Amino acid sequence: MSEPVVINIGLCGLGTVGQGVWKHLSANRADLESRLGVSLRLARASVRDLHKVRDVKVAARVLTDDPLAIANDPEIDIVCELMGGTDIAREVTLAALRLGKIVVSANKALICGHGAEIFRTARRYGGHFFFEASVAGGIPIIKALREGLVANQFPRIYGILNGTCNYIITQMEQQDAPYAPVLAEAKRLGYAEADESLDVDGWDTAHKASVLAWLAHGVWVKPRQMIVEGIARLTPADFKNAATLGYGIKLLAIITRDFARNELCVRVHPTLLPEANVIANVNGVFNAISVTGDVVGTTLYSGRGAGQDATASAVISDIADAAALLKHGKGAHLIGETSAPPRKGCRPAPLESIRSRYYLRLTVRDEPGVLARVATITSRQAVSIASVIQGPAETPGAASLVLTTHESNERAIRSTLKQLAALRSVLDEPLLLRIADFD
Ligand code: NAP
Ligand code: HSE
Repeated sequence: MSEPVVINIGLCGLGTVGQGVWKHLSANRADLESRLGVSLRLARASVRDLHKVRDVKVAARVLTDDPLAIANDPEIDIVCELMGGTDIAREVTLAALRLGKIVVSANKALICGHGAEIFRTARRYGGHFFFEASVAGGIPIIKALREGLVANQFPRIYGILNGTCNYIITQMEQQDAPYAPVLAEAKRLGYAEADESLDVDGWDTAHKASVLAWLAHGVWVKPRQMIVEGIARLTPADFKNAATLGYGIKLLAIITRDFARNELCVRVHPTLLPEANVIANVNGVFNAISVTGDVVGTTLYSGRGAGQDATASAVISDIADAAALLKHGKGAHLIGETSAPPRKGCRPAPLESIRSRYYLRLTVRDEPGVLARVATITSRQAVSIASVIQGPAETPGAASLVLTTHESNERAIRSTLKQLAALRSVLDEPLLLRIADFD
């Protein structure tokens, strides 16, 4: 019997995700090797600080503080970029691809920012780029879209794509917990990005939505072409108001395709979802994605969206795919980079024309005529009010006014918001949330 092919793996980054990969790949190596018929070697790893104490034991001779040395090492077959950011991560990724290597990445910011260049480089030099861990942590959504659902076109994909935000939202809603300590806990648990504003301001979700939109539609939509709003202005009162109205609140990515107009709409914002919707009940660090295909109908995926173990699971699945590719020959695999071929003429929808129902929370002076002044403004913009909840506000002499609207559009609601904010009786910046009446 011939010796199994030896595959050398280099991990660039040995933080939360890198250490998870090291730990689980070491523990499950024998099983994986017997299933794949190859020998897997964790050959090298790079870190920024060679003296940092780590949870996994890594021999000093394996460690370097130069990730490019791993990318350029002719002995390394698979380069796992697990550092984050878009500078050195891009350099390492492109260097490895230019040498025809396989790169495995968890870096959605990099893919959103430089995906076109990365895939172009991989094609040109015969490299491959795998990125299962970049969206929704341990949920194999990339494989589902690219392989399992290849027969479909996708009018709608939506879901929770950020574990940190869902963890924070859940704690605020269920424990009435204040925002700051919950965010600190999400960081301690290894869910949050090094720059936490990527999570709470919606950018991480936008990066992931961009990756899914590209997979499903073959079009790169950048965050500047989306609505991107985060969770920082939500208060416990918003969750109570939403519950009174029969809704939960989730930070959602919503990707819709209008095939007749050939437009793609990608948006990220806290959203009121009917409480009977399964995704409204997905809590903590869990993510969930609803994918509607024209052939299959609606399918639903849920699981841990962040954290060491779930993310390592996704990275190791890519390493296994990469190993199979190396064993059987690099041309042997892959249905295609995307589920969809690039759509000629498909363009991002104009943001102002996006239609939705809305939730507006205002803190107003509790005095006669306020409601009439608010209604005058909404009616001037042809925004039709569906319900009103008035209750006490924290400030003495003030009231909290929550309006929901019938369907309107972004242009009308933004203009309404601007005029409301300018009213003397409106005491602070109004909060706008969108309502999605998805089943
Ligand atoms: P992390 O804990 O901050 O680890 C980053 C690792 O990269 C560390 O080992 C760090 O070295 C090293 N590093 C960072 N900058 C470097 C530089 N300029 N040069 C050399 N080494 C550098 O980050 P993480 O949470 O593991 O995330 C890694 C990637 O996975 C990111 O793209 C993130 O978005 C993605 N991701 C994370 C999760 C999650 O739940 N954490 C889930 C899915 C995807 P030191 O250890 O010496 O500082
Ligand atoms: N910070 C990200 C999250 C990590 O919380 O979802 C997983 O991509």
